[in-house]
Amino acid sequence: MTIRVGFLGAGTVGGSLLRRLVEQNDAIATKSGVELDVHRVAVRDVGKARDVALGDGVLTADPRDVVTDPDVDLVVEVMGGLDPAGDLVLAALQSGKPVVTANKALIAARGRELIEAAEAAGVSLLFEAAVGGGIPIIRPLSQSLAGEQITRVMGIVNGTTNFILTKMIEDGLPYHGVLAEAQELGYAEADPTADVSGADAAAKAAILASLAFGIWVGFDRVHHEGIDQLEQIDFEFAANLGYRPKLLAIAEQGPGGIAVRVHPALVPSEHPLASVRGATNAVFVEGPAIGELLFTGPGAGGDPTATAVLGDVLHAARELLAKTPAKAPIRFAPGTIVEFDDVATKWYLRLEVADRPGVLARIASTFGDHRVSIKSVWQEGRGDRATLLLVTHDALERDLRAARAALDGLEVVGQVAAVIRVQSDEP
Ligand code: NAP
Ligand code: HSE
Repeated sequence: MTIRVGFLGAGTVGGSLLRRLVEQNDAIATKSGVELDVHRVAVRDVGKARDVALGDGVLTADPRDVVTDPDVDLVVEVMGGLDPAGDLVLAALQSGKPVVTANKALIAARGRELIEAAEAAGVSLLFEAAVGGGIPIIRPLSQSLAGEQITRVMGIVNGTTNFILTKMIEDGLPYHGVLAEAQELGYAEADPTADVSGADAAAKAAILASLAFGIWVGFDRVHHEGIDQLEQIDFEFAANLGYRPKLLAIAEQGPGGIAVRVHPALVPSEHPLASVRGATNAVFVEGPAIGELLFTGPGAGGDPTATAVLGDVLHAARELLAKTPAKAPIRFAPGTIVEFDDVATKWYLRLEVADRPGVLARIASTFGDHRVSIKSVWQEGRGDRATLLLVTHDALERDLRAARAALDGLEVVGQVAAVIRVQSDEP
């Protein structure tokens, strides 16, 4: 029996998958034992040139044609965004069609509702491609590691920003030019603000945290900051201090609950994440029994992502053929999500200060007043002004913010020019 697939979207990811289904269908069927047929494909512009040959009447500009078509057995959602994608996915599930999606924004916003709708209908909602592009991470977390008491998931989950940081640091290229290149290569979101602001990584962090800890973490519970505020000069200072900047997603279990956030962080140069280059993603999963696992590979781009989508499509197709009602991969229990203000981390600060006796003491006592302990200090003098670089021990977000405000008010401080978190497990 052939499984007829309906597509919502045929852009970077959908286009790659369509090409594979059209050009390599026999090989896929031979290896998987599943025959797939591209039955309907919804796009915004049916007149646009596409580099894959589709039969007459397959393309439609109305995505509802795909989800309401009784001959579509399985829906692939690769159109992106929340609206109309969310209601289309819900409608497909409610009408008994399994859905495969690459849409992390949608899963992070409405995942719980959609997973419950899928379970109620006895069909699968699969989203391996939503995190880590071509890296298998969703299935390992929700199935292979289902019995592990995961303590931390941490890594680089946005290819565009890692590509930008790599090119800026290694080749000295300007931010905007590299972002344009990432868009051309198909790494960036339709609106790349989602990438550079950290929102895309936050959606992925929400999904990873939910699966790792079995507590639903919506997108709105993930504090996120992007790479758009970073300055080249700090890349150089950080390199001299033995650090490299990365956009990190961190979800960890602490005594007060789980903390989930996305922000740039300086990583020690010898840490494996420091050498993750280009659009590659890398995610550490830690637990008492498994120790440390590292998942790494191409984190963005049409072809790797389409491989993840295809794996899910074949899985859902096999379930359809076996007529086995699908079960949700995970059940979410109540749990506490720590407020971002209560998260502790180390910090790098760059201050422009007056270079005269007593300045360092004033600055040190201001940090002390706000329970921030300084680990190391470097100073570079330039006449009567100096640049001061400081790295702190662990300090709470709320304390560092208060210390920064107090420093800004000191007459000897010209400017708190940069504040970047430092991710290091050293004391
Ligand atoms: P894309 O290149 O912008 O493609 C979007 C596709 O959806 C296009 O074919 C577009 O039609 C169609 N579309 C958009 N809105 C529509 C509407 N209202 N009605 C009908 N068709 C509509 O996006 P993409 O890069 O393939 O990403 C798709 C999804 O995969 C997103 O959720 C993204 O976050 C996710 N994802 C992307 C990557 C990646 O590396 N690109 C990796 C992992 C996950 P037209 O072709 O006519 O414009
Ligand atoms: N825009 C995303 C990224 C695509 O750059 O990581 C993969 O999810």
